[in-house]
Amino acid sequence: MKASIKVWRFDPDNGDKGNLIQYQAPYQEGDTVLQALLDLYEQEYPVCFRFGCRFKKCGLCAVEINGRPRLACRTPLKDGLTIRPLRALPNIRDLVVDRDPAFSVLLPYQPWPAIGEPPERLPRLTEPVEHQRLMACNECLGCLSTCPTYRHDDPSCGGPFQFVKLAQAHFHPLDRMDRPAQARALSIERCGSCLKCRCLIGIPIVKMAIQPLLEGAHQP
Ligand code: SF4
Ligand code: SF4
Ligand code: FES
Repeated sequence: MKASIKVWRFDPDNGDKGNLIQYQAPYQEGDTVLQALLDLYEQEYPVCFRFGCRFKKCGLCAVEINGRPRLACRTPLKDGLTIRPLRALPNIRDLVVDRDPAFSVLLPYQPWPAIGEPPERLPRLTEPVEHQRLMACNECLGCLSTCPTYRHDDPSCGGPFQFVKLAQAHFHPLDRMDRPAQARALSIERCGSCLKCRCLIGIPIVKMAIQPLLEGAHQP
C-alpha cells in the first residue's frame, strides 16, 4: 500500500523559496509519519528531518502536519497529509528548523533551579505536582507554533516553551529567583488575553505555567 503525502522541501543552497512535493510513501498498518519520512529517505528522496527516540521522549521530530504541530513519531500515517516544518522557528532545510533561538532567549534567565549557597543539611523535599507535570516537557518546541505572538528574533518575546521552562524552575521548592519577573521581561502580560497555547504531549501550559507566572504565585 502507498500513502500520498506532501512534504515541504527547501534547499537554501539552491536559492529557492521552498515548496511542497507530493510523494507516494510505502504504508503498512500502524505506520507513523516518521516511518514514512524514514522510508522516503531510504528510497530515493533525501528529505532532511530530525528524529531520535521514535517514542515521544526526545522531542526532535516535531513538525506541522496539516497545519498543526505534532510529533511525527506519534502521528498515524494516512493519505492526504501535508508535512511542513514548525512555522515559529527559522527553516534551515526541508523539515529542519533552527532550535537555537528558542533556547538562547532563555539563557540570561538561568532556567534551572537557582538554589544559592548549598545548605548545610539537605532539606526534605516533596515534589509539587506542577513541577512533576512541567518536567515532562520533551523540548519539542511545537507549542511555539501555536502562539500567535511569539517571535524567535525578538529577545523580549517569550512563548509557551520559554514560560514552561521558567515555570519548571518556579515550582522547584529550592529555586530563589523571581520567575514571574523574568516572565514579565519576556512579555508574559500579553498572554492574559490569549491563552491559546497547546502542548503536543498534553502538559496544561496555561494552567500550570502561564497563569502561575502571570499571577506571580509562589509555591507554599
Ligand atoms: S497564552 Fe497566548 S501569547 Fe501567551 S504563550 Fe500562550 S499562545 Fe502565546
Ligand atoms: S511544553 Fe509541550 S509542546 Fe512545548 S516544548 Fe514542551 S513538550 Fe513540546
Ligand atoms: S523521535 Fe523522539 S519524540 Fe519523536
